[in-house]
Amino acid sequence: MSQPRIQPIEPGQPVITTQKLSKTFSTEGVQQHVLRNLDLQIRSGDFTVIMGASGAGKSTLLYALSGMDRPTLGQVTFAGRDIVGLSESELARFRRRHCGFVFQQIYLLDNMSLMDNAMAAGLLLGQGRKARAAIAARAANLFDQVGIDAATRAKFPAQVSGGEAQRAATVRGLINQPQVLFADEPTGALDQTSGTAVLDVLTGVSRQGQTVVMVTHDLKSAKRGNRIAYLRDGQIVGDLDLGEYQGDDAARDAQLRSFLVEMGW
Ligand SMILES: Nc1ncnc2c1ncn2[C@@H]1O[C@H](COP(=O)(O)OP(=O)(O)OP(=O)(O)O)[C@@H](O)[C@H]1O
Ligand SMILES: [Mg+2]
Repeated sequence: MSQPRIQPIEPGQPVITTQKLSKTFSTEGVQQHVLRNLDLQIRSGDFTVIMGASGAGKSTLLYALSGMDRPTLGQVTFAGRDIVGLSESELARFRRRHCGFVFQQIYLLDNMSLMDNAMAAGLLLGQGRKARAAIAARAANLFDQVGIDAATRAKFPAQVSGGEAQRAATVRGLINQPQVLFADEPTGALDQTSGTAVLDVLTGVSRQGQTVVMVTHDLKSAKRGNRIAYLRDGQIVGDLDLGEYQGDDAARDAQLRSFLVEMGW
């Protein structure tokens, strides 16, 4: 099986490009055109935030960008490689190697501890004692950063709170140091403190050059991005350059708010 080769991308160069991306759902004979000829570039190293009303198609867009779901029409190019044309197994390998996910629904495996859930994703890429030790160390470090202590890491998903599960899912999404991290409302189930911890982790990986694409409704989360893309009527209708996040300041807040007012958020 040919494995898609992905070269490292220079910061600022496009890592994902969509061309006339369309997604239509048909439910009981009724067609819903969720994405319509959508053109978007995700630049390497950017922290891109996708905003828009509930039902606008943000999660649908994230699935299409990451090869989790196929568009109805159009192209998605990931580091110069057309991913729409890949077979299911090629796509799965491609995602494992290059993408990390933190989803709106938290898909942790019920029969594994939080730690094992995080490690399992890492071990898909590296087996053996050395790889295992490195992955365990990375997982422990990420759990520390999101504020999940050792006792909680040993618990099963059914034994932890929604916010703890969401933070564990963040660790799992980052365990392979993915080229692109896709996050869908990663702070949706979190209180202020844990939400900030997760956002700090995302900001940290972004500073290290990883590309982050995050969907959110939350202004505090959105402010972490350096770019806000607004989705409406199946297209990106607004694109705000916020500059790199250097901490909360009133000017950034005002800029984001006035953009969202203009977008009719
Ligand atoms: N598998 C599907 N089958 C049919 N319709 C779908 C499917 N997935 C999504 N939709 C519809 O597409 C539209 C966009 O859904 P999507 O989940 O992308 O919205 P969203 O912008 O992420 O919303 P939210 O902010 O509430 O998460 C919705 O109207 C939804 O009902
Ligand atoms: Mg959604």
